[in-house]
Amino acid sequence: MDLKLQRKRALITGSSSGIGQAIARTLALEGVSVVIHGRDRKRAEHVSEEITTAGGKATVAVGDLSTESGSRQVAQASVAAFGGLDILVNNAGGADRAPITWEGENFDEWAESFQQNFFSAVRLASLLLPELRTNGWGRIIQITTGWASHPENVAVDYAAAKAAVSNTSASLTRALAGTGVTVNNISPGPIVTPALERTMRGIAAQRGWGDEWPEIERRAVAEIVPNSVGRMGHVEDIANAVAFLASPLADYIDGATLRVDGGRIPSTF
Ligand SMILES: NC(=O)c1ccc[n+]([C@@H]2O[C@H](COP(=O)([O-])OP(=O)(O)OC[C@H]3O[C@@H](n4cnc5c(N)ncnc54)[C@H](OP(=O)(O)O)[C@@H]3O)[C@@H](O)[C@H]2O)c1
Repeated sequence: MDLKLQRKRALITGSSSGIGQAIARTLALEGVSVVIHGRDRKRAEHVSEEITTAGGKATVAVGDLSTESGSRQVAQASVAAFGGLDILVNNAGGADRAPITWEGENFDEWAESFQQNFFSAVRLASLLLPELRTNGWGRIIQITTGWASHPENVAVDYAAAKAAVSNTSASLTRALAGTGVTVNNISPGPIVTPALERTMRGIAAQRGWGDEWPEIERRAVAEIVPNSVGRMGHVEDIANAVAFLASPLADYIDGATLRVDGGRIPSTF
């Protein structure tokens, strides 16, 4: 299927690693010129080089999205890179700090988490709205999490921040009505990335599951993250969903949340 994405220009935040890297790779294969972003220039350049070596178009924008100056720098560099921007994928973020629960007064950590997971997305959407509006067509795709709608007693800050991102997608949809720019969420379940694998290996060591990844994944799916498909997600599962929502073929999908979680959180609406 031709996704009709040739010559579009995209910024994928947090594409120096994990899910964002896979999104950038997939969009580049569809002919999108991609801006690779992260805080670490070397890691971002590595991904960019991998894409250009494979025949794609990529460049790098570096900046800490927890800060206003870093966000401005990334927004400006992204628009300048290919002479405009059509697609913003707000993917940067994570629950990589010590997981916060309700036991403890972690007010500073809450604030840091909201900077990383919420304000990062708000700032880039605000800064890039004028550019996206000018083209008469565009996309904002926000990567949230199943915990945004179904929180647990762990990483409660992260879940709340992602729920807030999801809420802003709805108000952005209203703000961008009639402009050709759609705004949608993708809500991943557990996706195998180096960070998730490290966490699962730690749990495996505590529970005596051994160190073979297929067995760890099988036990984790059975005991920790059950889902109807019966496996963990792969970064490509999210990347393929982003490519579809980014495509003009998805012009009539706006203000939606697409769960890509193997049926972990089933719903009838
Ligand atoms: N993996 C999962 O199971 C899962 C499930 C649900 C949702 N998600 C969401 O999916 C997204 C990607 O996760 P991932 O698992 O692929 O994580 P990852 O491999 O740790 O990658 C995170 C990316 O975000 C960037 N980043 C983080 N904080 C940043 C900041 N303050 N400023 C600029 N860049 C920042 C990192 O850049 P650096 O190079 O600077 O570190 C990196 O490129 C996240 O929003 C995460 O919450 C993941």
